[in-house]
Amino acid sequence: MPTKIDMARFAKFCKDMGFIFQSSEIYGGINGFWDYGPLGVELKRNVKEAWWQDMVRNPPPGPDGKEIRMVGLDCSIIMNPKVWVASGHVGGFSDPMVDCKACKGRFRADQVWVVAWFRKSTLDPANMQRMQEQSADLQQRIDAAMRAFAEGCPTREQVSAFNEHIRKAQSSGEVFPRPAVIKSVITAGRDEARTVGAPTKAELKLYPDLEVPMIEPLEKFERLLGHPPCPNCGKAELTEARAFNLMFESHAGPIASDENKVYLRPETAQGIFANYRNVLDSTRLKLPFGVAQVGKAFRNEINPRNFTFRSREFEQMEIEFFCHPDESMRWYEYWRDLRKRWYSTLGIKSSNLVPREQGKDELAHYSIGTTDIEYLFPFSDEPQELEGVAHRGSFDLDAHAKHSGNDKLNYFDEERWNADSAGRSTNSFKEWLKTNPPAAEVAKYQFTPHVIEPSAGADRFTLAVLCEAYTEDKVPDAKGNEETRVVMRFHPRLAPIKCAVFPLVNKDGMPEKALELYRSLKPHFNVFFDDKGAVGRRYRRQDEAGTPFCVTVDGDTMKDDTVTVRDRDTLKQERVPMSQVRAVIEKALAPGA
Ligand code: GAP
Repeated sequence: MPTKIDMARFAKFCKDMGFIFQSSEIYGGINGFWDYGPLGVELKRNVKEAWWQDMVRNPPPGPDGKEIRMVGLDCSIIMNPKVWVASGHVGGFSDPMVDCKACKGRFRADQVWVVAWFRKSTLDPANMQRMQEQSADLQQRIDAAMRAFAEGCPTREQVSAFNEHIRKAQSSGEVFPRPAVIKSVITAGRDEARTVGAPTKAELKLYPDLEVPMIEPLEKFERLLGHPPCPNCGKAELTEARAFNLMFESHAGPIASDENKVYLRPETAQGIFANYRNVLDSTRLKLPFGVAQVGKAFRNEINPRNFTFRSREFEQMEIEFFCHPDESMRWYEYWRDLRKRWYSTLGIKSSNLVPREQGKDELAHYSIGTTDIEYLFPFSDEPQELEGVAHRGSFDLDAHAKHSGNDKLNYFDEERWNADSAGRSTNSFKEWLKTNPPAAEVAKYQFTPHVIEPSAGADRFTLAVLCEAYTEDKVPDAKGNEETRVVMRFHPRLAPIKCAVFPLVNKDGMPEKALELYRSLKPHFNVFFDDKGAVGRRYRRQDEAGTPFCVTVDGDTMKDDTVTVRDRDTLKQERVPMSQVRAVIEKALAPGA
């Protein structure tokens, strides 16, 4: 991986192995929610712990070679709803949606693009010129649509169902102009995207004067040409686009009234901003410093899809790194490069990782720059976002200062103030402010920090780790014949089980010796003891679980206290003194190993 795989088969493998289960499966499941099984919970914990260890407890030095200061938080999921008004989530965290009155489907209006073909003879010359102008940048428009659509990632089944619908619409003999929706066909390939809904050869003969297609976003198309078809059923019964807020709502207290309305947080970041002053006051940290949080976030996604990739409940691993505005670009570059490197140190091949600087048109209005670190998931032709590293300027602290009325969401650079004391009439900053110094002078000492935000998804990275690890290869069986095995090549730090201990046979003191070794290792790592079945079968089970080491107690162990340590990837078996097994595993688990 990630060569293309059938996600349904992959999801089944994950279920059979106990990595990921569909939530509430016994009741038919619930769309967009997932449970982690016995192996999955260990894997995801390891993901979060590796992140916390490498980013919070032991981050590498900053661009100036100095240590960087990081602390953590664990905020409540439900906060005062004013937080979400200030952050812009109440007003703006929404997707424009259209509903189909006929089939009840709901679609993101900005991801539905409509293509129409025109007969020259039906167009007046003014219109004609406009069409030609528009068709000149057709490729650009298709590319933009593709980018917008890549987010959605329809399954291949959805794509072929849609194509089928288009084919039916074509054969029903509608006359031109005949619009087609390209939303669900774009990932089927560029050529197909260009030709879906296009006239057939027979039609081209019938209408030799057909003009090149015009492609428009749904909303604009509607304004220009009237009702577009539904991407699902093809009927022209779509409603106007309406904002659909992605936040889950609830009520705090027994009365379900508007005053008691609360939201499940859609990101962990705002808890950090809301606590900015608390962190400063309780830690006496100096700029630059980072505050990190790992926790659940909830979004009522319109189209949860691709297994856990887009879920309605998921976990984020977020850092808000506060720094001086003049140094912010340096820190932006630092975090962008560090975060990409981190994925590689945990076994993600660099060739599958694509940092993509967002174009100006994609950036949030307050963002000075954002890089998406994308991963080539095996379910998609295009790399998909694993993490966003955003330069957020002072937007969030300014917004909370304004909405809360708290005038302390800024930073006073005491060191600089003291260093510049020569020739000043007072050492009190407050007193000095009363002398009405120029704003530029004040800003030298008191300013709102800028924020760099590396925001990663714990579930999304766990999915990438599963995809990257999944391998089928051929190994010799007990009789020397080749057999296919599935092996999860997890980086040892992330592997759910670090080591399995087996007695070769259940006699001659081997089970007792193996149990002794197991008991000596389990205070340190997640270790598995297995004395059931042929040893070859036990190896296979651990390969599927992604266990990097299998240790076997055999006849020689009883004589000299050595065991065999089998490496999951090389299949090499090394004889090692029992007392050294822990050191062998620890070496593989060291960060950067
Ligand atoms: N505070 C910034 C923020 O939340 P985001 O790009 O919306 O930014 C950050 O989310 C990360 O959270 C994404 O890169 C992704 O890894 C993860 N994420 C976002 N929505 C998700 C979803 N519906 N399901 C799973 N992970 C999601």
